[in-house]
Order: sequence, then C-alpha cells, then structure tokens
Amino acid sequence: MPNLGTLDLASGVGGKIEKDNVLSAVDKYEKYHVCYGGQEEERKSNYTDMVNKYYDLVTSFYEYGWGESFHFAPRWKGESLKESIKRHEHFLALQLGLKPRQKVLDVGCGIGGPLREIARFSSTSVTGLNNNEYQISRGKALNRMAGLDQTCDFVKADFMKMPFPDNSFDAVYAIEATCHAPDAVGCYKEIYRVLKPGQCFAAYEWCMTDGYDPNNEEHQQIKAEIELGNGLPDIRRTHQCLEALKQAGFEIVWEKDLALDSPVPWYLPMDTSHFSLSSFRLTSVGRFFTRNMVKALETLGVAPKGSQRVQAFLEKAAEGLVAGGKKEIFTSMFFFLARKPDLPTQ
Ligand SMILES: C[S@@+](CC[C@H](N)C(=O)[O-])C[C@H]1O[C@@H](n2cnc3c(N)ncnc32)[C@H](O)[C@@H]1O
Repeated sequence: MPNLGTLDLASGVGGKIEKDNVLSAVDKYEKYHVCYGGQEEERKSNYTDMVNKYYDLVTSFYEYGWGESFHFAPRWKGESLKESIKRHEHFLALQLGLKPRQKVLDVGCGIGGPLREIARFSSTSVTGLNNNEYQISRGKALNRMAGLDQTCDFVKADFMKMPFPDNSFDAVYAIEATCHAPDAVGCYKEIYRVLKPGQCFAAYEWCMTDGYDPNNEEHQQIKAEIELGNGLPDIRRTHQCLEALKQAGFEIVWEKDLALDSPVPWYLPMDTSHFSLSSFRLTSVGRFFTRNMVKALETLGVAPKGSQRVQAFLEKAAEGLVAGGKKEIFTSMFFFLARKPDLPTQ
C-alpha cells in the first residue's frame, strides 16, 4: 500500500488528541526529556502518558515518511529500503520457526505493518498488542484493506500488564518496541508468562552498545536526543537486556547486534548527506519540502498548531540516530532469540 499523502499527514498529527490540545501535548511531551530539563525517573513513572503522547503526535509522520512498518533494517547492497524491512520481518519468522495456524503475539505492534507481513509469510494468526488507540484504529483499517481482519487482531493494553492467560502463545516477537518499557525485567516477565513452555521469544531491541561511554558528554547528548525524538524513558545497554531476559526466566539461544555486519548502514536513509529517489521523503530535500508544507498547512489551520514542533523533534531524533549509528554507540537492531524452558517432566 502507498505511504500516506500530505493531507493525511496533516490531519493525522495528534492522533486521538483533540486538535486544539496538540500544542500543549507537544509542550508536555518535550518537558519529560533531558534536552528540556526532564528526569529519567519522571519518564519512567509516567511512561504511559509520555509514550502515548509521543505516538499520537508522530504516527502520521512515520506513516508518511517510512510506511506501515515502523522499524529499521540491516540492508544489502542493491536492496531497497522496503525490501530490507520485509526481509528483517521474515528473519524473525524464520528464527521463531513459525508454522501455519500458530498463535503469535506481536508486542508493541505499531499500525501492524510487520504483523501483516509475518502473518502472510507464515500463515499464522497474529495478535498485535499496543497501548496506543490511534495506532490500533489505523491498524484495524489496514488489516481490513489487506483482508487479514479475520485471522489477525489488535488488543489495546500495556505490555507491562498483558490481558492474556498464562501460556497462551506459540511464539512472541517484539520489534523496536520493548525499549519503551520502564523496566525490562518486568516487561520480559510478562512475555515469559504468556508464552507456552518450550516456545520462543525473538526481538530487535534499541540499545546503547559497549562503545557508549556514560561519562562522555557527546555520547550523553546523542543518547538524550534519541530519547527525546523517540519517546524513550532510558536506553539500556545490550548486556542489560540479556541479564533482564535471564532474570525473567529465559534461556538465550543466540544474540547478535545485526548492525555490525550490515553492508549498507541502517541509518543511511536518514543521513542528510545521502540522496535516494525511492526514499525521497527522508532526504534533506524531501525533509525541506515536508517542513515547509507542514508550516503552510499549520498556518492555514489544516494541520493542528504544534505540528511544526513535532517535525522539529523528529528531525532531532534523526540526527541523534545517525550520530549514534555512525559512532557505533547505539544500535536499533540488537537481536536475540530466547526460549522459555519446557515444563519439568513428572
Ligand atoms: C517504534 S514502534 C514499533 C512498532 C512495530 N513493532 C513496527 O515495527 O512497526 C513502538 C511501538 O510500541 C508500542 N508501545 C510502546 N509502549 C507500549 C506499552 N507499554 N504497551 C504496549 N505497546 C507499547 C507503541 O505504541 C508503538 O506501537
């Protein structure tokens, strides 16, 4: 399906927030972050408000600039961005060994781009869990258009307290979503609880790498920009994710930072020194065009007041992600496959 058009972008800014309240939501959202004097503890204790404000504000920009799947991907030379995104989704299905008719959970599913692709690729029935109502309404509409509304569904809930019985799913995956959790152990424990014994959880996590120096001011600033631009309470180190998985009860089957051997860097589409016709909206010329278009639409009252501020913090996010990727202090694709042990035999 094609990306959103300009008017859809403008009318979608703010998601379920009343249009008159978008500007104050931007104010409140920004104040959660270090760049505006915010504290990590406040972001963690108010994570639902912070993350939901973020996705209400940005979802239409994501859909306009990136498409239906809100994640990055390692990329081969000669592969388009869209192809690499799909292959990254297929890789998860392959790692989980998905089989037709299995019941699968997508934790933090966005508007369901990966969910639809994985369901079609593996003939499974995927439930998308998401705490953002606006994204779920978009996801349901897109599932109907794709003819997947009978086999796949969405549940609105917090992944820290999932409304599913124990041992419900044959497989669970999370794509660039559990980084929003205020506490990784708590989140992974919920995933462990709803997964059937002997089955697997696979994820792509956003992490600071071993190259990150918490005492280096430039590194701290890059981390703060990524948190601001992406609705994150804090960004964990790769080893902290692995420790959290073990604490939750998982066995780690294997893990790897997939960014390390991606022939085309994952951050390239956002790098302003790069030009691509197929990802035109992400290039510096494309962004210049979007910036001015959002400005004009906000002045005309078509886009709510505050839209330009959203565009501005998303540009900051892009700068932080490119800097973090180039310095190899941040990765958007720390992959792991983890298994819930079998029940002990009597
Ligand atoms: C970067 S998006 C990735 C979406 C999707 N996995 C994809 O790749 O298209 C992160 C997603 O996590 C969801 N999310 C964040 N915190 C959540 C929470 N506490 N409970 C459920 N979903 C959450 C957001 O609403 C958003 O849909």
